[in-house]
Amino acid sequence: MSQSRSVYEHRPVLLSEVLRALHPCAERRESASLYVDATYGRGGHARGLLSKLGPLDRLVVIDRDPDAIAHAHDWAQEEPRVLVLKGCFGDIRGLMRAAGLGPIDALLVDLGVSSAQLDDPTRGFSFRFRGPLDMRMDNASGETLASWLERADQQALSQVLVEYGELDRSSAWKISQAMLAASIASTEELASLVRPLAARSQRRSQTRRDPVTPIFQALRMHINRELDELGSVLDAGFEVLRERGRMAVIAFHSLEDRMVKQRFRNLISGDPRLAKLPMTGNVGRAVSVVRLAKPSTDEVAANPRARSAKLRVVEKRCEAHSS
Ligand SMILES: C[S@@+](CC[C@H](N)C(=O)[O-])C[C@H]1O[C@@H](n2cnc3c(N)ncnc32)[C@H](O)[C@@H]1O
Repeated sequence: MSQSRSVYEHRPVLLSEVLRALHPCAERRESASLYVDATYGRGGHARGLLSKLGPLDRLVVIDRDPDAIAHAHDWAQEEPRVLVLKGCFGDIRGLMRAAGLGPIDALLVDLGVSSAQLDDPTRGFSFRFRGPLDMRMDNASGETLASWLERADQQALSQVLVEYGELDRSSAWKISQAMLAASIASTEELASLVRPLAARSQRRSQTRRDPVTPIFQALRMHINRELDELGSVLDAGFEVLRERGRMAVIAFHSLEDRMVKQRFRNLISGDPRLAKLPMTGNVGRAVSVVRLAKPSTDEVAANPRARSAKLRVVEKRCEAHSS
């Protein structure tokens, strides 16, 4: 087993809430059910889900990260009910079609990076270590942060910091200017360069976090096209659910959670932008199972990385219903 497979672990967030919300999908089915964990990580949720499934049920686990996939394959060797698929969850429809599987009874999407990724310095996700400017979840393909910074102009970099880091325009402009003027070779150098600039623009309410946090978050979200992926899985994931199938999403920051909340609201009540148009068919196609769940204080004390997690769960209803 490679070091990245064995050493770096991840503690699943909101595990009992996820199992409580998704377990009924298997319980109430008379034939075999199909569960999908679209973000395997280190398999914390996957193990929990599998423990609730019967001998004929199946669990598909997906991840784009080769280390996560290697970890999943090791586990699946002992678990014939588990199928491992490498790919992006935004392409869930294609992945399931290629495997000849569907429709899905329950789908889990636990967003962001795992502790295994964050704590591995060679992946370049964290400002706590000296690592390469990489930040790719799939480190076998795509463009690294270093290579994007080599070709990015100040306008593009600044826009990323505004859009995904929620920095004000003036700070984003200054920080991107400093980043492009310096020759930065590691995460540590990047953090040291931008920390004093970012500290000046940090809001008072956020002084407890390291000021470089939103900058690293923004760059990671850009490199991995995280919001595009989320938009795709919210649409395609819901389409591949069977009637009364459930989709659970755990988000870790406001941009993601806003998207999830909005899409789920539209699924439950119909799209408000279409409400005034003279058309039929814009009706609710889902009911809410968990409107919003957050980790308890005990969970946050045991796992501080859970602190910003927000879980929302919907159930698909093919028959139109009025909300
Ligand atoms: C928060 S971790 C999941 C942890 C997991 N639930 C556990 O308990 O171990 C998120 C995982 O999703 C993967 N991931 C993020 N975005 C992805 C995407 N668009 N497609 C596939 N996997 C993705 C990451 O590589 C990471 O392993």
